[in-house]
Amino acid sequence: MVAQKNLCVLILAAGKGTRMKSSLPKPLHPVCGSPIISYILKAAQALQPAAIGVVVGHESNQVIDAVNAHMSAWGITAPIVFIQQKELTGSGSAVKAAIPLLQKFEKVLVLNGDTPLLRAATLRQMTDCFLSGQNGALVCGVSVPNPHGYGRIVRNEHGGFEAIVEEADADDAVKQITEINSGMYLFDSKALQAALSQLIPQGPKNEYYLTDTLTFISQMNHPVLVYTVSDYTEALGVNSKAQLAEAGQILRARTAARLMDEGVTLVNPYDVYIDEQVQIGADTVIYPGTYILGKTVIGRNCLLEGGVYIKDSVLADNVTVKMGTYIEEATVEETCQLGPYAHLRPQSVLKKGAKVGNFSEIKKSTIGEGSKVNHLSYIGDTQMGAGVNIGAGTITCNYDGVNKHPTVIEDHVFVGSNVNFVAPVTVRQYAKIGAGSTITKEVAANSLGIARARQVVLENKGAKKND
Ligand code: UD1
Ligand code: CA
Repeated sequence: MVAQKNLCVLILAAGKGTRMKSSLPKPLHPVCGSPIISYILKAAQALQPAAIGVVVGHESNQVIDAVNAHMSAWGITAPIVFIQQKELTGSGSAVKAAIPLLQKFEKVLVLNGDTPLLRAATLRQMTDCFLSGQNGALVCGVSVPNPHGYGRIVRNEHGGFEAIVEEADADDAVKQITEINSGMYLFDSKALQAALSQLIPQGPKNEYYLTDTLTFISQMNHPVLVYTVSDYTEALGVNSKAQLAEAGQILRARTAARLMDEGVTLVNPYDVYIDEQVQIGADTVIYPGTYILGKTVIGRNCLLEGGVYIKDSVLADNVTVKMGTYIEEATVEETCQLGPYAHLRPQSVLKKGAKVGNFSEIKKSTIGEGSKVNHLSYIGDTQMGAGVNIGAGTITCNYDGVNKHPTVIEDHVFVGSNVNFVAPVTVRQYAKIGAGSTITKEVAANSLGIARARQVVLENKGAKKND
């Protein structure tokens, strides 16, 4: 699609979100790891509009700061103009507040700020439909199984648009209508401005309804179209925590369907928590109860057992992650094996074929190719070479209470069980460390480092009472 230089997008995000019962503004509530408003901005960006206006009001600074901080991560390159709505008196007055922006453009796409499941493709099709003639307005309508709470689209005797009637103002006959207003519209800017000036407060809360402008535009003899989408989930407006959970569930289902389409095996696609932007290679098998979040990328033919948590990490091909493993901001090369119950903390790198096993924690360390940290260890601030074996219960003592210090363990070192490395310390290649040692000084290549009290055996001092 070519950039639309006469089109701006206006996102309405000033509302109080009262039904969320939350101190967090509604547009910032996360759905699958990203705030609601990010989905709307991303879909808007796909149209390449000349500008995106965001109407803010309730907790406006928080919303503005969050959008400014993350917009480049969300891929938003269109300039964003924030518009303050001073009195929160409805979606119509939100658009009125944006008139100075609207005046600069011929066409306007208006989106509610609470529909995270909308698709960019739908916005494109709506826009193409609207721009195909001299139209005054277009509303995206959809038939939903349960229309309660939405504005209903009332059609005239010819099947054309007549009005949108809000739930609060609907009589029983209108309440039967299942075709609802999705909260996505296109307008001819001049017709919209003329209609906005005719708005009067409506309904039990005396609000200015944006939806009334479509009736006025039609009365001014400009065609008003209803563009129908078939997937009703696109229209789901998040007004409550229950709808927030529902939106998350639908988005996860979409992500799961995409991944299965790409050849990923999800043993139970209804019990995995995979964020939208996650990439996973074909033939990777994922068991239930697994979280794969943020910017994670996983290769082909991996195995992720149940209860695994992976965030903002990269796993190459043929990696096995056993149950209960927690991985955050880490890089895992091919054929590594993790868990059960391993913990990789930020800036951990596992080179090809490395193993980190039962109850071992790795922090800001590199574990070299084929090296093993299999049992009950803590490895922090460590550069470990290839072919190293770390015995059970080995600890790097990297923190002296004030500063963190590095440990270097070169290639092919063999470390016995229950060793403490008091950092800063270096163990040269092919060295061996005796079990139970507390190593405080460099150990030279090919030598045995042993630092523990000698065993004493005192006769007749055993457990059996001697008298
Ligand atoms: C609105 C529509 C309804 C539609 C539904 C779709 C109106 C009058 N009704 O109802 O027909 O079926 O969306 O989800 O528009 N907002 C402001 N300033 C305000 C009030 C609201 O910016 O003063 C914003 C909100 O932040 C929200 C959007 O406008 O993003 C819609 O407001 P909301 O209160 O959620 O309207 P609904 O009752 O859901
Ligand atoms: Ca809503």
